[in-house]
Amino acid sequence: MNYYDLIKVGEKFLAKKKILRPKYESILLFSKINKINFNNYFTNGKKIVSKTQASIFLKKIILRGLGKPLSKIIGKKEFYSRDFFVNTHTLDPRPETELIIDFIKNFVENRLTPLKILDLGTGTGCIIISLFLELNKKINVTGDGVDISDDALKIAKKNARYHDLSDKINFFKSNWFSNVKNKFDIIVSNPPYIKKSEINFLPEEVKKFDPLISLCGGYDGLNPYRRIADKAKKYLEKDGFICVEVGNKQSSKVKKIFEVKKFTTVDVLEDLFNIERVIIFKNKI
Ligand SMILES: C[S@@+](CC[C@H](N)C(=O)[O-])C[C@H]1O[C@@H](n2cnc3c(N)ncnc32)[C@H](O)[C@@H]1O
Repeated sequence: MNYYDLIKVGEKFLAKKKILRPKYESILLFSKINKINFNNYFTNGKKIVSKTQASIFLKKIILRGLGKPLSKIIGKKEFYSRDFFVNTHTLDPRPETELIIDFIKNFVENRLTPLKILDLGTGTGCIIISLFLELNKKINVTGDGVDISDDALKIAKKNARYHDLSDKINFFKSNWFSNVKNKFDIIVSNPPYIKKSEINFLPEEVKKFDPLISLCGGYDGLNPYRRIADKAKKYLEKDGFICVEVGNKQSSKVKKIFEVKKFTTVDVLEDLFNIERVIIFKNKI
């Protein structure tokens, strides 16, 4: 069997399973597994596949047909135009989280002094790693990424190695601030914010393949914000700021949680669907 025929088998299977772009996904899976450029498939269609190649490919096609997300099969997901390793212990980075990177890049545009960043609930490390890669060109950045999940931390460290930042970012286990020692200029967090009662209604791909600990924010989805707002003052420099992602319709409640703890809202950013998605706070003077 050649590349073309095998990919056709994959495409037909995915189409039967109602996957939206069966041809695209079949070619993509084949090219990722065999480490060939996506477009090479078109020029190499007549090449013969080995039995091992075919069996690896078909196993992955079956997983895709069963609803496993492409990212979790390939083991990588793009965030801010870079690849990040993912697995079943990490939340797949989402495009709306990129708003945090854009905001911080703009906010510190004219800054010359070094910057200390803390990422709470770092997961794949996509936020803090992207910030380092974007900001380090101009200023000296240091920082910590913490998570309660040892398995997620393994992936964050792998991503730091992949992006050549192993010796720059400290990743360690912490229940929010429990093991954090220093003060920071910027504290970022995309905490779990789905209400417990809504978990069952999430799309299958999310519910089955993103870890519950990365999704569930307690009975009203706001517990992590309460925990963070409660302790943040101690870990934030006087003129520092906090940047958190929030879920749909949570923004006014999250503002209240932080304002009660003597923070002021600096800005609220909307995502592409006009949902208030990221809130920035600073110390109330
Ligand atoms: C929504 S995910 C965000 C992951 C990543 N920062 C991103 O934006 O893609 C939330 C992360 O918070 C972590 N987490 C949940 N509870 C935590 C806690 N009590 N302390 C620290 N991290 C926690 C989860 O393990 C998960 O990695």
